Amino acid sequence: MTVPVGGALILGIETSCDETAAAVVDASRVVRSNIVASQAELHAAYGGVFPEMASRQHIRDIWPVVRAAMDQAGVDWQDLAGIAVTRGPGLAGSLLVGVNAAKGLALARGLPLIGVNHMAGHLYSNWLHSAGRIRVPSLARPESEDPGPPFPHLLLTVSGGHTEIWQVRGHGDLERLGGTLDDAAGEAFDKAARMLGLGYPGGPAIEAAARAGDPSAFALPVAETEGRFDFSFSGLKTAVLRQVETIEAAGEPLPVADLAASFQAAVVRALVMRLRRALKAREARAVLVAGGVSANGALREALAAAIDRPLWIPPLALCTDNAAMIAAAGWWAFVGGQRDGMDLDVDPGLRLG
Ligand code: KG4
Ligand code: ZN
Repeated sequence: MTVPVGGALILGIETSCDETAAAVVDASRVVRSNIVASQAELHAAYGGVFPEMASRQHIRDIWPVVRAAMDQAGVDWQDLAGIAVTRGPGLAGSLLVGVNAAKGLALARGLPLIGVNHMAGHLYSNWLHSAGRIRVPSLARPESEDPGPPFPHLLLTVSGGHTEIWQVRGHGDLERLGGTLDDAAGEAFDKAARMLGLGYPGGPAIEAAARAGDPSAFALPVAETEGRFDFSFSGLKTAVLRQVETIEAAGEPLPVADLAASFQAAVVRALVMRLRRALKAREARAVLVAGGVSANGALREALAAAIDRPLWIPPLALCTDNAAMIAAAGWWAFVGGQRDGMDLDVDPGLRLG
């Protein structure tokens, strides 16, 4: 695949969950703008995303967010090579807002439309420049010459809806090695946070509480699974609940920090252990981590200590949902020849690979 250099720009649009986002990324994978309007405060009162409110808020935010992305990048419509938009997985009503906005723009401006898988977006956040790479030898090179992560590599996706390990052999050439049999890692963080009376989203709240806690205070097990690269977090969730019930029944104050730290350590252990196992079984010249949970400091530290390959984890701003990653994934699809029509539909259950 030949990659055009410099110049051409992709506008990315992301509305799969509770972030309305737009970004402009250029052909050298440099982020020109990256605007995210988060609805987290709106949904906090409900302890999770309220789908209908999310779609309605996307409708209010989408045009100002797209305008801001174009203005911040200092580009005009004729500078764009195409428009990439998340078509799934996610909430149908939320996805529809972004896809319809992208269609309207593509039609009005005569631009190619590219539907993107949200999880491919998370993967491609690692291809963006300024991606916070840990131990990557190519750092010595100028950014424009940086070839990106080498193939084949292993990919760990850890978001609110996904926890999977993949071997990635090339652009669009992925093999799923394993995944969660029940809750995703981010979902487990969100549920544990609710049990501990911490706010939504739960991941950052658990991480903050855990800083003052002892990770070995509670022995919280993570189940072994029959599939060697699979995960299961439902037993861990029940173990936290049992501890909370026992402590509350005894009328004692809840040791929130210790429980948060012990829970976080158990999730991190499970993730690191499966990745190491996959590294023994499969060829990998690097390890990439993607999705909201990759923002977790304890996970980042544990991976840096335990993984003996170049490790690529996006900087914090590119870990959680954003549109720069959608533009990056859209760029590769565009270069590969993908063009979608006005019949592009959302797919809430879309899978990677
Ligand atoms: O990728 P993402 O922004 O949205 C989805 O595609 O799901 O991931 C959101 C998930 C939430 O479950 C949130 O609690 C979790 O990522 N998360 C974290 C952290 N920041 C976000 N989990 C652990 N530690 C964090 N610092
Ligand atoms: Zn996401």
